[in-house]
This record gives sequence, C-alpha cells and structure tokens, in this order.
Amino acid sequence: MARLDPHSYNDTAHPTTEHLHWKAHVDFDARVLHCEATLHFRSAAEGAVDLDTRDLTIEAVQSDRGEAVPWTLHPADPVLGSKLSLALPPGTQAVTLRYRTSPNASALQWLAPEQTAGKRHPFLFSQCQAIHARSVVPLQDTPRIRITWSAELTFPGALRAVMAAREVQHDAGGGETCSARFEMPQPIPPYLFAFAVGDLTSRELGPRSRVWAEPSVVDAAAHEFAQTDAMIAAAERLFGPYEWERFDLLTMPPSFPYGGMENPRLTFLTPTLLAGDRSLANVVAHELAHSWTGNLVTNASAEHFWLNEGFTVYAERRILEVLEGRDLAELHAALGVRSLRQAIDSFRDRPELTRLRTQLDGVDPDDAYSQVPYEKGYLFLRALEEAVGREAFDRFIHRYVERFRFQSLTTEQFVDFVRRELPGALEQVDADAWLHGEGIPANAPRPKSARLEKVEAMGSKAPDEATAKAWTPTEWQLYLELLSRPIPVSLGTELSRSFQLTRSTNMEILVSWLELALDSGMDVVARTEEVLRSVGRMKYLKPLYGALAKRADLRGRSRAIFEAASPGYHPIARQVVDAMLKKAGA
Ligand code: BES
Ligand code: ZN
Repeated sequence: MARLDPHSYNDTAHPTTEHLHWKAHVDFDARVLHCEATLHFRSAAEGAVDLDTRDLTIEAVQSDRGEAVPWTLHPADPVLGSKLSLALPPGTQAVTLRYRTSPNASALQWLAPEQTAGKRHPFLFSQCQAIHARSVVPLQDTPRIRITWSAELTFPGALRAVMAAREVQHDAGGGETCSARFEMPQPIPPYLFAFAVGDLTSRELGPRSRVWAEPSVVDAAAHEFAQTDAMIAAAERLFGPYEWERFDLLTMPPSFPYGGMENPRLTFLTPTLLAGDRSLANVVAHELAHSWTGNLVTNASAEHFWLNEGFTVYAERRILEVLEGRDLAELHAALGVRSLRQAIDSFRDRPELTRLRTQLDGVDPDDAYSQVPYEKGYLFLRALEEAVGREAFDRFIHRYVERFRFQSLTTEQFVDFVRRELPGALEQVDADAWLHGEGIPANAPRPKSARLEKVEAMGSKAPDEATAKAWTPTEWQLYLELLSRPIPVSLGTELSRSFQLTRSTNMEILVSWLELALDSGMDVVARTEEVLRSVGRMKYLKPLYGALAKRADLRGRSRAIFEAASPGYHPIARQVVDAMLKKAGA
C-alpha cells in the first residue's frame, strides 16, 4: 500500500500489468493517435487500479469479459498528469481502453513535411523518457513495472513505421493506408516504448544491425555508423552477451531533442552526429552501453537516474577505450569534468540536485535533468574501479548485470550489492559523500593522458598550424571549453580567421565555439540563429540560448529567435528552453 515512485500514481496494492497490446491509427491531419490499449494483469484482479495518463481523451473501458469498467479521470497534476482510476469487476484478467491522444502529447512530435530532410512527407516520433509514455498510453508509467508488449499500427501508405521492437509484419505498401505489427518479448520499463513513422529506408551495417533514415540521409548515416558491429563485439567482451537480438539505429529529423535515446533494438540518434568523420561515435557507444546499464539493469525511479546514466557513461568510455584508445577516452572524461562543473554551477540555487541519489517529490524529471547523474556518476564508478583495480571491477560489473538483469533497482540496493561484492570499497571512496553529498568530492579521480596534458598546456594561446592539424575534433572542443572567458579580441579574431570555426560542420566544435564567442562579445549571432533554427537538440539549445540571454544586448534577440524557432522544437525542448529564458529575464 504505497506509492514508491514519486512520478507515478502506481500503488503497490494494485494489480500489476504484465503485457500491453496496443493498436494505434496515425492521423497526421489531426495530429492524433486513435488507440486501443489492452493491459493484461499478472493475475486475475478486482477493485481499484490507478493508471498514469497525460492529455488523453478516454472513450471507453472494458474488461476482458466484456463488462463496462467504471473509471474516473482526475484533474491533472502539472508534473504527473491525470490519474485514471479504474474499478475492476471481479476476475478481470485484462482491460481494454479506447482513447485518443492530444495534438500536444508531450511524448510526440508531429513534423510537417518542411521539417524533414525530404520535405515531402510528414514524420512522427515518440520520446517517452522519463515520464511521457503516459501521454501515449494509459499505463503504470514507472520503471519499477516492466512489461512485454505487442502493437499494430496503421498509417498512410507512403510511409514506413518502425518500433523499438521486433517487426512481425508489414504491408508491402501501395495502398492508401498501411499496417505493421511488432512485438517486444523482453520486459521493458515503459519509458523505453518507442516508435516513429515517416519516409524511412534502411541500410545494413552488419549481421545484427541496420540503420534507418530518410532516403536522402541514409547513405551518410551508413557511413557514419559503419563501426557499429565492432562496437557491439567490444561491448559484449566487456559486459556480457547482448540480450536484445538486434541493435538497429534510427537517424532522426534535426528536431530530435537528445543526442541519442537507447530504445531497445532501435536506438534513436540525432542527425547532428553525421559529421562525416565518425568523430561522434561516442554517442552510439553510449546508447549501445545502455543495452546493459539501463535497459537490462534499470533505475527504479528518476531519483536513481545516475544508476542508468552514470553507469552508461562509464561503460561508454570503456568501449571507446577499446576502439579508439585510452587517450581519446580520457579526453572525453576531461570534457565530462568540465560539463559537470558547469552543471553544478547552474544548480547554485538548487544544490540538492547535485546529489547522485535525489529526492524528486513534486519535481519534474525534465527540470532535474543535468550532467550531474552522468558525469558525477561516472567519476564515482571510476573511483570504485580505481579503489579495487580494474580486474576486480570488471568481474563486479559482470556479476551486477547478471544479478539485476531485467530488474529495476535503487541506489540503496546498489550500495548493498557493492558492500557484499567489493568489501571495503565504499568506505575507501567515501561513497556517502558521492551519493548524498553535494558538488564534487575532493577525492574525485582525475582524467590523465598525454594528449590531454598538451591541450591543457595551451593556456590562452592559439594552436600553431601543425598542432591544429593533428588535433581530433575532441581536442578542439576541449581546447575551446578550457579557454577562460572572455577571450581577448585578438585571440578570437585569430581563431575565427585561421580555423574557420564559425563554419565548422562538427556540431560539438561549432556550439562550443559559438558559446565562447558570444561570451567574449563577438558577433556570431547570425550563425547562432541559423543553428537554433535548424537543430532541436537540447544539448545545443541550452548553451546557445544561455549565452545569448546572458548578454544584455542580445537578450531581446534570444526571445525573438526562440519565438521564431520553437514551433519546430519538440514539446520537451520548448518547455525547457522557455523556462530557461524566463529565468534569465528574456
Ligand atoms: N537516455 C538518454 C536520453 C534521455 C535522458 C532522454 C533523460 C530523456 C530523459 C540518452 O542515453 C543520453 O544520455 N543521451 C545523451 C548522449 C551522451 C551522453 C553521449 C545525449 O542525448 O546527449
Ligand atoms: Zn544515456
């Protein structure tokens, strides 16, 4: 009789869903999904069950025996959405809910043809993490309750539907409407429910992976992600067998709000990764790593988000180390430390959000999102690794995955497990300071490598031509991030002239440069606006809008750019940037 997840109405006294069958008809004109969701319970149930919903219109609820099920939709809470209370008649094995989604569903983005690469067909995609699945399906939207699912989609005939699942049937096309069926036989937390519909085609990358994209982008994507197979093999050697059969990739339209999303069997990726030189492969490594840390072993709620992301950053860098060497992995770790410092700084007025184990009652996970769980989590795990040695830590990771696979766990369970498996390690690293303290503990590991030292030694000099030529994009980015700002006008001019940074096609470099240039009073607004109008990835929106809004002379402009660009953003990105600008007085 308890609500264990602050972001779900689920009550442990209520019956638990085991399987979802979902039917949806995609109406691009109305921007609505017409749906039927059947929730199968673990055992025959009776009485109350509370579901999570957001902006759904419920049309009818029926039991598996055909009885009408009484229901009440409660007023919406701003964070949780609306509780949907059902009163199940005795002996109910399953309930079927007929409903439709809202055009404003927080998990969905409906793109007009102009917002796609091909400009001819509309596009629809979902992004459910952390608590947006409820805007698509009424369910128990907590990672504590894993479900298997099956689905049938109908959609306009010219398009292709993909889901983070096994495809079991799809029409050859040609007709007015098309259908496809999918099934996900492994139990997943609801935030991993995902699909997309658009003008999509694919290229094979290897025996277990292919990449999907719009036709005009798919060859670039196949080139960029060509190492995927080698990556899966490297990850299996590190963390054990890959349990999801396939690791396919979906290149999203530019408005996708994240770098990547680890939807099982079908990772969603921002097209900003298509730099042409495979230099942003760490994002693929990261999403692949989630196949173990996150998708197999899952955080029990957003309060334990670091277990997903910190572990995955650690795993990502281990994969990178195998594929690209220790030096490169350390450069990424150094960038991580820098972004962690910035995150901690931006939480000056909410320092409690710099803890790994958080308390998020009443707090929207999208507002609590930051680099803290990622990079502080990474450093904590690295501290544990350094305390016990890599061999022992590798054995520990294998046992961790084996012990908790297909389960959801809390920080407290993690601590108990470490105490048993690695006696003394928690005390050695002062785990309490990491998990429950604010900021970065003084004993934090420090990334070290020869190439990193060289970049750090640059100070506020511009690199000479030979140095600049030898730098990878990661070294460039780190160099820009480490410059203390504002930089002198002379350095700004030199960097801009000699290296054409304002025209960089590597988004990581470009955004680091534009932020630095804005902080240094340079005039790069036109290029910044171009980026903000063409890309919806929050990792880029936040620093660029932040840098604009910080400048008194550009504050008004930042709001004007947002008004013009935000109709193209995902609802989550729109909300997050709007809140940020308001806070900055813009
Ligand atoms: N699962 C996250 C993305 C996410 C987090 C979506 C929280 C919604 C809520 C994904 O694995 C991720 O961390 N992506 C990063 C990649 C980076 C760390 C390499 C991103 O989007 O930048
Ligand atoms: Zn992640």
